[in-house]
Amino acid sequence: MYNKAQTNDLQQLTAHWLTEATNTDTKNLSAANIEDLRKVLRFHEYRYYVQNDPFISDFEYDTLYKLLEKFEKENPAAITADSPTQRVGSGLVKDFPKVNHLVPMLSLENSYNAADLMDWDRKARELSGLSEVEYCVEPKFDGASISLIYDNDLLTRAATRGDGVTGDEITINTKQIKSVPLSAAFSANNIEQVEIRGEVLINKNNFKAYNQKLMEEGVPPLANPRNAAAGTLRIKDTAEVGKRNLEVFLYHVSYWVNSQVSGENEKQPSTHSGMLEMLWELGFRSPKNEMRVVKGIDKVIEYVNEFEIKRDDLPYEVDGMVIKVNDLLLQERLGMTSHHPRWAMAYKFKARQATSKLLGVEFQVGRTGAVTPVAKIEPVQVGGVTVSSISIHNEEYIKEKNLLLDDAILIERSGDVIPQIVKSFPELRKGTERAIVFPTSCPVCSHPLFKPAEEAVWRCVNINCEAQVVERIIHFVSKDAMDIKSFGEANVRKFYAEKLLADVPGIYQLDFEAVSKMEGFGKKSIDNLKAAIEASKSQPLHRLIYALGIRYVGETTAKTLANTVEHILDFRNYTADQLLQMEDVGVKVADSIDRFYKDEANIQMIEKLGRLGVSLVNQKKQVAENDSLAGQTFLFTGTLNKLKRSDAEALVEKNGGKIVSGVSSKLNYLVTGEDAGSKLEKAKKINSVKIITEEDFIKLLPV
Ligand code: IVH
Repeated sequence: MYNKAQTNDLQQLTAHWLTEATNTDTKNLSAANIEDLRKVLRFHEYRYYVQNDPFISDFEYDTLYKLLEKFEKENPAAITADSPTQRVGSGLVKDFPKVNHLVPMLSLENSYNAADLMDWDRKARELSGLSEVEYCVEPKFDGASISLIYDNDLLTRAATRGDGVTGDEITINTKQIKSVPLSAAFSANNIEQVEIRGEVLINKNNFKAYNQKLMEEGVPPLANPRNAAAGTLRIKDTAEVGKRNLEVFLYHVSYWVNSQVSGENEKQPSTHSGMLEMLWELGFRSPKNEMRVVKGIDKVIEYVNEFEIKRDDLPYEVDGMVIKVNDLLLQERLGMTSHHPRWAMAYKFKARQATSKLLGVEFQVGRTGAVTPVAKIEPVQVGGVTVSSISIHNEEYIKEKNLLLDDAILIERSGDVIPQIVKSFPELRKGTERAIVFPTSCPVCSHPLFKPAEEAVWRCVNINCEAQVVERIIHFVSKDAMDIKSFGEANVRKFYAEKLLADVPGIYQLDFEAVSKMEGFGKKSIDNLKAAIEASKSQPLHRLIYALGIRYVGETTAKTLANTVEHILDFRNYTADQLLQMEDVGVKVADSIDRFYKDEANIQMIEKLGRLGVSLVNQKKQVAENDSLAGQTFLFTGTLNKLKRSDAEALVEKNGGKIVSGVSSKLNYLVTGEDAGSKLEKAKKINSVKIITEEDFIKLLPV
C-alpha cells in the first residue's frame, strides 16, 4: 500500500503535523493542507490496524486526531465523507434497515478430510478439462460475515449476511472497525462500484478480556468470539461498538462495475489471489500474507495440514481453510449449484464442539454468596480436553438456553476459553426430561436465598456462611491474587475444618505447631508454607486489592486502583464520584468499592493484615528523591544484565524521570539490553531518541 518513499514522506509529514499540533491556533491551516493531515492519520491507522506495526504512540495519534477534529469543528464545510473523524457515528442507531446484496451471499460446501478434497478436485478437473487446477488456499475466519460496497472510491454501505439475499445495513457500526478504509482508490483500477465480502472478528485476547469483564459484572460470558463479533455489529450504541476492537479480513470481491473508460480493464486482476493482492494494495486487510497459491490438490492438502497445526498460535479463531479455484474465468465457467459455488470449498478443522448429555446440576456457593448452578455432563473430549462439568451461570441463562435435566446438549470450547453450552436439542426430547429446580435456601448453611431485584443471581446473604468464608480465603491465596504457593484450596479446606483458620488474617497467624501434627505436613512442607506466607507479605498492592475479593473488582480494575493511591486505605477518603473518574470504573464497580470501604469490618480486617506484616502501600509508586532525571522519559527493552527491569524502572522514577510505554518522538532514552527487538528498530528511525546501553543508563544515575 505504501512504498518506501511514501512511507518516508508520511513520516516527515507526521513530524510536521505533530509540531503543528502544539500550536493552539488553527487559523493558518487551510482545507487544502488539512487533507495532508488526513493522509497522515489514515497512514497511521493502516500501520496500526492492518499492518499491526504502528509508528507512533496512541498519544501522538490522538494529538493529531484532535487537531483535525478542532479544524473541522471550526470549518464544517471542509469535512469530507472519508475524513478519519467520520468514523464516529451519531451515537444511537435506531434500526438496521434491510438491504439486498448486489450478489447473493452464498455459503460454501464443507469438506472434512483429504478424500473429500480429492473428490472435489476431480470434479473441477473434469469440468474444466485441465489436468491440474491452480488453487488459492486461505484461512476460514470464524466470525460474522459482512459485505461492503464502495461507490466511486467511497464506502457507501455495509451489511450483514442475513439470509444471503437480504441483510441488515450496519454501515455506521462498520465504520467503527478501523481496518475498514472509508475510501479506497478503486478508480485507479477502473472500478466504479464494487462489493467486497469479509469476516468481522474479535481476537482471542479481546474476547477473553471482554468475557472476563462480563463475569466480573455477574453477566454470563459469551460462548465464542463468533457470537461476540456478530452481537457487537448489531449493538445500537456506536461508541460501545468502537470499544470492542473489532477486526476484519476481506477475502472476496463478489461484484464490480467498470468505469466508463474503455481499454483500461487490463489493470484488473484475473485471479482470486490477484484480487486479494489488489485489496491489500488498496489498504484493506486481506489474507494476502496467509494465502498460498498452489497447483494440484496434493499441495492444497499439505498447506491445510500445515495451517491446522498453527491454529492455536493465531491471535484470532479460524475454523478451517477455504480453497478457491484461482483463475476467475474458470470460476465463472464452473458456476454454482443452487446453494454453493462449485469453484470454492471449505475444509473444516477438527471440531471444538461436541454433543453430550446434561446429567445433573450442582449448586455452588461462591465467595460473594452467589449460588452458581454447575452442570454435570457426560464426559466428552473437546479440543483436546475432557469436559465433565460446565458452569450454567444463573436461572435466566438456563431458561434462555432451554435446558432440562437429561437433555442432549452441544458444547463448545473455542481456543483456550472455558467451555460453554451452545444449545440444547429440544427436538430430541423423550418426555422424561425434568426441569432444573433452584434451591430456596443455601446448600451449605441453609440460610434462605435472596435475589436482588436488579440481579440475575440468587445469593446467600449470610456473611458468615462457611462456603463464603472458605471461598474468600481460597481466593486470597490463589495464584492470581496473593499467590501463596503450597497453601492452595485443599489446605485452606483442611485448616478450616481443623479450626486452625477462620478468616483471611488467620493465614498470617497459623499455628504451625498444630499444623505439624497433621498428616502429610513434614518439616519441609511446613518450611515451604512458612516461606510462601512470608513472601506474600510484600506482594504488589494490586494483588492485595484483587485478593480482597471486592465484588466486580477483577485483576484489571485492581491494577487501576493500585496505581491511583499510595496506601490501600486511601480509598476510604474517595467518594463514589471520584471512583467513577477512574478508567474502566463504572457505576456498579464504584458502588461496590464504596460499600466495601464503608464497612468497618473490612477496614479492621485490612488494618489487621497490616499489623501482621502485609504491605498495604504502593511500592512501585516511587516518590522522587531527587530530580536528576526530571523531564526525561525512558523505556527499557531486551534483557538487562545488571538490574531487574522493575528495579531499573523504579530507579528512573526515584530520580524524577518517567517510564513510557512505547517508542515515539516523546521518548528520550531507549535503554537496550540483550536481544532488543522491534522497539530498537523503531527507535533507530526517530532521530531524537537516544539509544543507550544498561551501563550508560547506570552512569546517568547520581552516585
Ligand atoms: S468465500 C462465494 N473465504 O465462511 C464465496 N468465506 O460458508 C464467499 N468465510 O459465509 C465466501 N473465511 O462467512 C470465503 N476466506 C474465506 C472465508 C469465508 C470465512 C465464511 C463466510 C462464508 C462461510 C462459508
